Amino acid sequence: MRVLITAGPTYEPLDPVRFIGNHSTGKMGYALAETFAAEGAEVLLISGPTNLPDPTSPSIRTVRVQTADEMYQAAVAEAAMANVWVFAAAVADYKPAHVAENKIKKAGDTLLLELVKNVDIAAELGKIKRSEQFSVGFALETENEQAHALGKLQRKNFDLVVLNSLRDAGAGFRHDTNKITLLEADGRVTIFDLKSKAEVARDIVRAVLTRLPHPHA
Ligand code: CTP
Ligand code: CA
Repeated sequence: MRVLITAGPTYEPLDPVRFIGNHSTGKMGYALAETFAAEGAEVLLISGPTNLPDPTSPSIRTVRVQTADEMYQAAVAEAAMANVWVFAAAVADYKPAHVAENKIKKAGDTLLLELVKNVDIAAELGKIKRSEQFSVGFALETENEQAHALGKLQRKNFDLVVLNSLRDAGAGFRHDTNKITLLEADGRVTIFDLKSKAEVARDIVRAVLTRLPHPHA
């Protein structure tokens, strides 16, 4: 099993000292990397900026990136070699249209920033997914959770989508626990209890393992 995982936030530069980012810690993606490695997988962990140290398992190769474009380049270069893809990164949806060469100086009372859409890493890879490859996405939703998550599953060609509901206390960003629901292309829905991210990682990895095409005996 060869697993490609994206994790953490992306930082989209505005000028040499500023960026647009988000509060993703990367914990979920790193926990998934460790859990897949413990199951004997070779893991490529493509990580945005986090405070976490590189996992020490010799089966995990960590590649550090900053922007969505860099994360996409790293992922597309290795995607064909992996049979499982896990998109755990909180990729910035937009990036500044222009990156200022010099620090932007304080001037008027308002500042308008023009943003342009970032590449959708999961959706782009979804277009080149082979039938034996298995793709897992995440969806963080605050309303119409299951419908939105299923829309993402279809648009991005996921086999499995992990829905994180922010309505559940103790779930999501900045918490060490998550409450997930797994949704699948065939309509199966599995609801899990609030658990630590390490336990959630085990639930997700177990689900992926049972759904992978079995190697011929
Ligand atoms: N994703 C990605 N590249 C992007 C945006 C999202 O690979 N540019 C992946 C995420 O890693 C996640 C899934 O797509 O696995 C869903 O991300 P999410 O932010 O929930 O979905 P979006 O399509 O960006 O929709 P929105 O933020 O509007 O809900
Ligand atoms: Ca998004």
